[in-house]
Amino acid sequence: MLTHTDLHEMQNRSLKLQSWIRQQTFSPQDEKTLRRFSSWEVSELILKMKAGTFRSRLAADPALPAGKVEPEGRQRWFTLEEINTLRRKLRTRGASLMPPRPAGRAFRTAIANFKGGAGKSTLALHFAHAAALDGYRVLCIDFDPQATLSHAMGLTNVGEEGTVWGIMLRDLVHETEALNAAPSGAESGTALPRRSLPRSVIDVGAQDMRAADFIQATNWPTIDIIPSCANAAFVEFVTAQYRHLNPEWSFFAAVDRYLSQLSDDQHDLIIFDCPPAIGYQSMNAVFAADMLYIPSGPGYWEYDSTTSFVGQLAEALHDMAAGAAGFVSAEPIRLPKAFRDVRFVLTRYEPANKLHQAMFEAFGKVFGAQMAENPVEMTRAVEQSGRFLSSVYEMDYREMTRETWLRARHSFDKAYEEFRTTMLPHWHGMTSETLPAGTISNEGAAA
Ligand SMILES: Nc1ncnc2c1ncn2[C@@H]1O[C@H](COP(=O)(O)OP(=O)(O)OP(=O)(O)O)[C@@H](O)[C@H]1O
Ligand SMILES: [Mg+2]
Repeated sequence: MLTHTDLHEMQNRSLKLQSWIRQQTFSPQDEKTLRRFSSWEVSELILKMKAGTFRSRLAADPALPAGKVEPEGRQRWFTLEEINTLRRKLRTRGASLMPPRPAGRAFRTAIANFKGGAGKSTLALHFAHAAALDGYRVLCIDFDPQATLSHAMGLTNVGEEGTVWGIMLRDLVHETEALNAAPSGAESGTALPRRSLPRSVIDVGAQDMRAADFIQATNWPTIDIIPSCANAAFVEFVTAQYRHLNPEWSFFAAVDRYLSQLSDDQHDLIIFDCPPAIGYQSMNAVFAADMLYIPSGPGYWEYDSTTSFVGQLAEALHDMAAGAAGFVSAEPIRLPKAFRDVRFVLTRYEPANKLHQAMFEAFGKVFGAQMAENPVEMTRAVEQSGRFLSSVYEMDYREMTRETWLRARHSFDKAYEEFRTTMLPHWHGMTSETLPAGTISNEGAAA
């Protein structure tokens, strides 16, 4: 017979191995660090200029960062900070190398599918890294207590109050206070019942945390993260209880309200990694997102699950809109939830596999313009870099066959390029709208 004690014992054995792997990988301080990038990578893959042009620009201007030459090496190797300085200072044919950045707040994309193992965290990690190499400042939010993305970004010691759960708790206290402080129940003139929260909620102290306290630095200088941890899984149980404490609390809008408290120019792109389940955290991700990116494996069963994901999501969003009149928010919210775009992308795709080709075609027929043209290929490089708890971008290409690395990189690059091209017009559109985000009336509730 095995009980929870045995499971704990198994976990402890497993945690020891996990910590040993991290020490071997991130040593000496058990801290993940970012490598330098070679002049070949910087010129051709990152700044997209000819290697010869890049070399002559560096030679002509001694004020530019010159990188470091490794002993016995000939290439120069640059840190991401140096690359960003080069990006600011260099121009090609008079044009800036800076990526387009519409005014206003950061653009938010949720990478979601209730199907487990669809490739969400891998896509989120690679998009974040590709975007940072493209010159964007990225904020990742890990909504998944499995914490794959947090671990991949080097964060392991995370308390649950520092996760999306903490953000939700903070929001619950603030929203309940705002509700209690409201003078009366609008037109009816009747006082709203005072909602009181138990000590167990107040004692966590989430209400005293500043918005910035949830954001942590990663091993990439231009990527921050709001991490997750296993204990955050409890949120799914206790949030139901919180809703009971304050039924008017628009629990699904907690992260959206939180993000509107951040300054607009702190980040450019916000990427959400979602858990493989419908729940309070994933609904927060979905509600706060401008765009949904839905990865799916290229098999029939994945197609089957993706179809049911879309159905469940539609159902959940419908219920949210139907309940609009019952929700209160200190900041007006817009219901029904509308996305600027929704995209499906195939992952672990093998171009020569007939079944995958057929599935790609089927997905295309069903989802039409919503289907991303560039699937992410199945690649050994993900497996190999995963062994080092890294992305393909983080791996030094000398650690594996150059062709394997380059093919993988190209595949993620193409998927990222398409993501960027899809996102930009929507982002520009947001800027030109007259009403700033967060001040839009609650259409659903007004109806
Ligand atoms: N392009 C790829 N090539 C090869 N392996 C891949 C690729 N994408 C993902 N994988 C592998 O597939 C597995 C699942 O990927 P991932 O963890 O990204 O999925 P997920 O949707 O985040 O899972 P979960 O639902 O558990 O959060 C991992 O072992 C990952 O390394
Ligand atoms: Mg995941």
